[in-house]
Amino acid sequence: MNGSLYERLGGKDAITAVIDDFVARCAADTRINAKFIRTDIPRLKTNLVDQVCQATGGPCTYTGRDMRTTHDGMAVTAGEFDALVENLVATLDRFNVGDAEKSELLGALAPLRADIVEVESGETGTQLPDAYRNAPATAATAALN
Ligand code: HEM
Repeated sequence: MNGSLYERLGGKDAITAVIDDFVARCAADTRINAKFIRTDIPRLKTNLVDQVCQATGGPCTYTGRDMRTTHDGMAVTAGEFDALVENLVATLDRFNVGDAEKSELLGALAPLRADIVEVESGETGTQLPDAYRNAPATAATAALN
């Protein structure tokens, strides 16, 4: 098929709509939403749109932190990672994203798992560790917020 994955997904507006739906699903999902209690959601959405836009060949620059630094200390489990991917698939299905585009996008995200999952367990709904939850904003996160 022709064109970048970015173009085939429908460009920035389509990606923004996809991220809105995806984040709403994650926020409502008790398997993972405890991890987001201290998160600035609008900022997260902007970063996700930029990340997906850039990774799929679009004209965006992701300015957020790298995946290992971002998720360090959250104690994200394998089960929680899978739950998040499940929500993304549900969103892509709702937007009728084709199978080829879907697997290309999921394929691009798969290598990030190693930087995000800290606990190899199927458990879901785990709390943020206190050390993460109570950590004062670092210079890096304060500047981003
Ligand atoms: C392929 C999977 C994932 C991708 C691509 C991804 C991507 C991102 C990005 C781009 C950010 C913003 C970076 C920044 O703040 O500078 C972020 C933040 C965050 N992610 Fe993920 N993420 C993934 C999986 C997960 C999972 C499985 C969880 C937990 C269940 C999670 C929890 C969070 C939280 C809580 C934040 C906000 C951090 C903060 O408030 O400072 N992520 N993620």
